[in-house]
Amino acid sequence: MARKKFLMGNWKMNHTIAEAVRFCEDVKNDSLLKIARSKGVILGVAPSYLSLYQVKRHAHGLIVASQDCHYEESGAYTSSVSCGMLEEIGVNWSIIGHSERRTYDNETSFVCNRKIHTLLKHGFHAIYCVGETLKEYEQGLTKDVVKEQVLVGLMNVSKEDIGKIVIAYEPVWSIGTGKNASAEIAEDVCGYIRGLLEELYGKVTASKILILYGGSVKPNNIHDYLLQADVDGALVGGASLKSESFKELLENI
Ligand code: 13P
Repeated sequence: MARKKFLMGNWKMNHTIAEAVRFCEDVKNDSLLKIARSKGVILGVAPSYLSLYQVKRHAHGLIVASQDCHYEESGAYTSSVSCGMLEEIGVNWSIIGHSERRTYDNETSFVCNRKIHTLLKHGFHAIYCVGETLKEYEQGLTKDVVKEQVLVGLMNVSKEDIGKIVIAYEPVWSIGTGKNASAEIAEDVCGYIRGLLEELYGKVTASKILILYGGSVKPNNIHDYLLQADVDGALVGGASLKSESFKELLENI
């Protein structure tokens, strides 16, 4: 069976609550979910923690994900949010391991693994981000880096649970720079990731896992990525912020 396509907006530290709710109303008024259904595309957004509750209430069927979560259930972790807190407001998706968390919080693949296990325990879906820095890219280390991130991040994730994980390949050098990776690079690395998943979970299971590309995806280049055999969608930052641009991304899939 063909894999569904997935368009996910990561709003990062953008949008007030009012702006986030307005986006949801635009999505409704523009019938974006209807368009998405007719194209077989899953649509979602990841707002800031502060907007999550209101976005969830106004989501009208959009997937709503947090941008992170803590691996502990509760405790002395100032500024963090637990799975249980997200669960309480009906959120059951979370991005894990975004390069901005890896860079600014020194988040390692081990920490990501702990978070993924906590999410799975709560029945959540995770969008697990991997990708190399510019230096690693220039040194030809892309696949080594991605391999470590996939193998460690998914350590002890069972075959039953892996269906709850979406992988997002986001080369750090392409994020917010306008220097998007070519569709060939995206396919090469996403295909490599699928190969790793095959080794871990077998061909049939790996063939069902969604793998996204992220990094300077815009309405005018999204189509090229979605034509690739192993790229199932996009994780989009800047171009997902305005509902008009989000609509164009969807239309161009
Ligand atoms: P941009 O689309 O702004 O490059 O951001 C990509 C990203 O980091 C999505 O998680």
